[in-house]
Amino acid sequence: MCGIVGYVGEEQAAPILLDGLQKLEYRGYDSAGIAVYDGTDINVVKAKGKLSALCDLTQDGEAMKGYVGIGHTRWATHGEPSVTNAHPHYNQSKSIAVVHNGIIENYQPLRDKLIRRGYEFHSETDTEVIAHLLDYYYKGDPKEAIIKVMHRVVGSYALGIMFKDHPGKVYAVRKDSPLIVGVSEHGNYIASDVPAILKYTRDVYYIDNQELAELSMHEVHFYNADLEEIVKELVTVEWDVEAAEKGGYEHFMLKEIYEQPKAVDNTISPRIKDGKLVIDELNMTEEEIRNISRIYIIACGSSYHVGMVGKYVIEKMTRIPVEVDLASEFRYRDPVLEKNSMMIVISQSGETADTLAALRLAQKLGSKVLGIVNVVGSSIAREADNVMYTWAGPEISVATTKAYSTQLVSIYMLATLFGQVRGLIDEQEYSKILKELCALPEKIQELLGDKERIQWFASKYANAEHIFFIGRGVDYASSMEGSLKLKEISYIHSEAYAAGELKHGTISLIEDGTLTVALSTQPDLYEKMISNVVEVKSRGAYVFALVSADNQGMKENADFSVVIPKTYDCFVPSLSVIPLQLFAYYVSVARGLDVDKPRNLAKSVTVE
Ligand code: AGP
Repeated sequence: MCGIVGYVGEEQAAPILLDGLQKLEYRGYDSAGIAVYDGTDINVVKAKGKLSALCDLTQDGEAMKGYVGIGHTRWATHGEPSVTNAHPHYNQSKSIAVVHNGIIENYQPLRDKLIRRGYEFHSETDTEVIAHLLDYYYKGDPKEAIIKVMHRVVGSYALGIMFKDHPGKVYAVRKDSPLIVGVSEHGNYIASDVPAILKYTRDVYYIDNQELAELSMHEVHFYNADLEEIVKELVTVEWDVEAAEKGGYEHFMLKEIYEQPKAVDNTISPRIKDGKLVIDELNMTEEEIRNISRIYIIACGSSYHVGMVGKYVIEKMTRIPVEVDLASEFRYRDPVLEKNSMMIVISQSGETADTLAALRLAQKLGSKVLGIVNVVGSSIAREADNVMYTWAGPEISVATTKAYSTQLVSIYMLATLFGQVRGLIDEQEYSKILKELCALPEKIQELLGDKERIQWFASKYANAEHIFFIGRGVDYASSMEGSLKLKEISYIHSEAYAAGELKHGTISLIEDGTLTVALSTQPDLYEKMISNVVEVKSRGAYVFALVSADNQGMKENADFSVVIPKTYDCFVPSLSVIPLQLFAYYVSVARGLDVDKPRNLAKSVTVE
């Protein structure tokens, strides 16, 4: 999604803006621009394509003098990628400049009204409306003008704004799109995300919806929607710069795959005290847990796949019925929610528009919502009634890996706690489960050791056209994630299928040499899966099997196998996903693709 950076301080602004935008490239973009006040005018330079084009145009910022500026990387929503549509946008006299992340849903009527009042538009963007609307309302006080614009626009926005009449200031305001303020002795910053300013400061303020920030060289002030000054809590970001960089790996994705043992341990350990699971952030009494009638899990993409695993695991361990929904479906299907039900939304970024909308709808329907979120202070984290953070740390690669794994173990912890409170897990079983839970990091580490074999196998299939993933039970849910990982970074067509469903149509697609990845880790389904593998092999398929050590039959039928270490059956998805992540990664590398920034995708999908 779009990235925003702003700076006001003692240093030259342009190089800081460009550096910050570089750290936000992972959000996905197609053009970029910066505006800097040079003491007389606001100078704006924009470029289509990669950030390097903008750096070339501005000699890495050296050609733009000034101590105040805003910058933007654009992921096109309204209007094709172009210099004209790139941000910053400005009013006719170039006395106001604005950068925006989000969507102004009522931009068309506002644009029509402004045109009727003589305003000229040059771009196709919704953002340009904000620049002219600010001009329309500006009577000398920037905050007044901004508040009026806030009350007029409908939609989502994070805005960085400069006024030529107020040269030493940068203004920031947000609704539903992320924005933070960073403070340091050399100046103050705004940014869409922490990595953009981590090099300069770890002291940040998280702006809440419809709060306004006014930054000058040595001061930051915050105001509410009534322009009353408010005091905000200063947060120290624990991420280190290293964590936000590649750390010696070729791609962020590989780094994050290898960070999974640590990320999973960081998510589990703080919630185990004296041999007991303690999840205080649930804010639920045992009575409330016993009274849960149904659980709804709503998410998108890989987070949705965690929900699919969650259905099998939670129902098995707690006997609570679970419904899993794609957020983009849930929000428009006029859902019926059961009384005493529990709603869980899962989101790595905490900014996915569909998931945020689903959360709000659930709350409107009377549900309390638990958010399982990775990004601290994100919109979903703030708006959920309760938040269970996954301590995966910054996940930069568009294809999620460590965040997915930490979401899985969060679900396991919930299921274990609920199962125990509802009297379905006795003390002996409980301690065995906790032991297996705590052993997951080392078993993940063990599977990472199989990297070479998987890399070799992946290179053989770099030119495949179709790859199928099949499984039953939690293996079916895991096969969904394996298929998505492959698709999104290798661009190879792939489908995940319930193995028992193949004979109802899809098996007609299996032909000589078709690679079929079969997941078979659930003992009570071994025989069924062997039949499915025999089915596809008889039609020429080449079978890559993920098997438990005791599944000799499958090993004999498969052409290539990876053995999944034994663990509590419900926790297998945390292990089977590792070879699938490595397989997708190495296929993408073999195809010479941009693993961390795949085409058309963004790390945080903050638009519908
Ligand atoms: C997963 O690799 C993709 N990047 C994508 O499917 C992602 O899981 C989805 O957009 C949901 O994102 P979220 O977890 O941040 O809400």
